[in-house]
Amino acid sequence: MVYKKNKLYLSEICLIDLVKNYKVPIYVYSKKIILNNLANFKNAFNGKAKIFFAMKSNSNKQILSCLRSKGVGIDAVSMGEIKLALAYGFKPNKIIFSGVGKTEDEVKFAIKQGIQINVESPGELERAGKLSQKLKKNVAIGLRFNPDVNPETHPYITTGFRENKFGMANYFTPILTTILKKYKTLSLRGVTLHIGSQLLKTDVIGDAIKKTIPVYRYFQSLGYNLDKFNVGGGVGIAYKKSDPEVDIKFYGKMILDLLGDLGCDICCEPGRYIVGNAGSLITRIEYIKKTPYKNFVITDTGMHHFLRPALYGAYHEILPLKKSRGEKVMYDVVGPICESSDFLGKMRVFSGIKQGDFLAIANVGAYGYVLANNYNEHPKPKEILKSL
Ligand code: LLP
Repeated sequence: MVYKKNKLYLSEICLIDLVKNYKVPIYVYSKKIILNNLANFKNAFNGKAKIFFAMKSNSNKQILSCLRSKGVGIDAVSMGEIKLALAYGFKPNKIIFSGVGKTEDEVKFAIKQGIQINVESPGELERAGKLSQKLKKNVAIGLRFNPDVNPETHPYITTGFRENKFGMANYFTPILTTILKKYKTLSLRGVTLHIGSQLLKTDVIGDAIKKTIPVYRYFQSLGYNLDKFNVGGGVGIAYKKSDPEVDIKFYGKMILDLLGDLGCDICCEPGRYIVGNAGSLITRIEYIKKTPYKNFVITDTGMHHFLRPALYGAYHEILPLKKSRGEKVMYDVVGPICESSDFLGKMRVFSGIKQGDFLAIANVGAYGYVLANNYNEHPKPKEILKSL
């Protein structure tokens, strides 16, 4: 976001002009930024990656429709997400079903729809085998491995370490092979990984891939016709000025170099990289409260609309929609929820802000609205996608 003549812009959207026409709090997204991110991601792979957008990061209908029109598929993690994807026009062969705890109903539904299932445990493979046999329908299977690497991100979003619930260690291969042989309706198509989210150093994804290539080759050697290697998502974005920008060209080239020899489809599941910096949450200042110990900006949004600060201690820039002059004062920016975890930012310095002014919380396009809820019976905010 940038200021032009003291007014804050998200891409070319003048946010102070926008709030004249819309009620706050509101999530605002820029289509231009999303398409630009998508183009950068595609170009990093010279157009050779198959992209399945991680819908868990943002399931806004217009955003998904926009991505669909660009040939992007969906990485879904529940029957609810699959149903939405189908309703928004994604074909079953453009949807992958990921997730660690798929219920019987969910597995059945995916098989009936002809959607590939990325399996995370021998128990799940057994379930997919039994159900596909019963339904007399083949099901495409990806096997998610856990490469046991340290992706150096927040522990809550680390998934590729041996103590995480996700994926399977390489030593699971014999039991997986037994199950695959037992059910002829299981059609093994590839392997998959996802080692964590908000990775600012992507070379660890390369380490994870190197550890998983032998498994891919092992299944090939058994005669399975694998044609997909899925590298998951995880590419981080710069939330703080001090965060390094991920070198997306390096990331793409590294993966092309590692997987080129396999001659298979390279599948990716980015979420945050595509939409993270394309969204802002606009809020109004309800009150300014000063005490001898702390000053508070109390807004009409909070952890119920945007959970990342409360859940991960995540930092998001908070900027006034109009720059004003005045004494610099330090505040905690908090919401109306009856919990002290309800903060959007701590120790932020603003000049000349007052009741009724508007603030923008930056980089909320990923894992923002999808995590919003009605806690304390507050309504959820609206969302708007602008083409600018
Ligand atoms: N693929 C799988 C299997 C995943 O579990 C995830 C994210 C992705 C792809 C997309 O990852 P991304 O490219 O967006 O990093 N709520 C947390 C993030 C949770 C990520 C869960 N899995 C946050 O706000 O940081």
